[in-house]
Amino acid sequence: MEDQERQRLLSQYAEIAQLAGGLAHEIRNPLGTMKLTLELLVEDVQDSEAVRDRRMLTKLRKVQAECEHLNDILDAFLQFSRAGELQLVDSDLNGVVREFIDFYRPTAAEYKVDISPHLESDLPLVRLDRSLMKQVLQNLAQNAIQAMPSGGLLELQTYQRDGRVRLEFIDTGHGMDEKTRSKLFQVFFSTKPTGSGLGLPTVRKIVEAHNGTISCESALGKGTRFSIALPALQSAE
Ligand SMILES: Nc1ncnc2c1ncn2[C@@H]1O[C@H](COP(=O)(O)OP(=O)(O)O)[C@@H](O)[C@H]1O
Ligand SMILES: [Mg+2]
Repeated sequence: MEDQERQRLLSQYAEIAQLAGGLAHEIRNPLGTMKLTLELLVEDVQDSEAVRDRRMLTKLRKVQAECEHLNDILDAFLQFSRAGELQLVDSDLNGVVREFIDFYRPTAAEYKVDISPHLESDLPLVRLDRSLMKQVLQNLAQNAIQAMPSGGLLELQTYQRDGRVRLEFIDTGHGMDEKTRSKLFQVFFSTKPTGSGLGLPTVRKIVEAHNGTISCESALGKGTRFSIALPALQSAE
């Protein structure tokens, strides 16, 4: 491709990305007002025994659920659009993983999922945007939990190999077939009724912005493994 053409496409892309981000922000405010107003309406009718009010409450709850769904889509969308802007700090990946597990364990426990860390000591440092890396962990953990509707085990491993620091997410969930696996990282691909299909594309975008790679292996009915590799700053090997 010619340089000029490349520049034109790049600036077109930047413009579209900016528009899309702006649109998401613009939708958030009226949506917030709608949510608040719905809450007030619910308060008005929720204690009433009148048949008409009971019916009204059911409908209001439905609209509330749809607003939540829209809000989730917006969050996922904004997360995706910001995934390339990094603030890198020399970091100990184990520390980030431990902090995440402390934060996430209660949520996992609610879904009967046990988190088991296997963190290799003396890992070399990596350059990380810690807040984006936590989004990666959160998105992968959320998918894992959703794949284990009756509970299970989520193993988080770290280790070093070939000058890279590796992070593995292994779940004992329902797994996926090859067709699903091949589409995982496509924007808006989801097998869930109210999935955004933006979780894994965001994960991949963040990992690649760190010069890392991500791959997935899965066995239907057995479980799934996501493997992330990040460049190590200095090797302790
Ligand atoms: N740990 C997992 N086990 C089984 N399937 C998974 C797992 N993680 C992701 N998937 C599949 O990949 C799809 C895309 O995931 P994602 O991009 O996070 O979107 P969403 O979670 O909104 O559906 C999911 O709908 C699901 O089919
Ligand atoms: Mg997801």
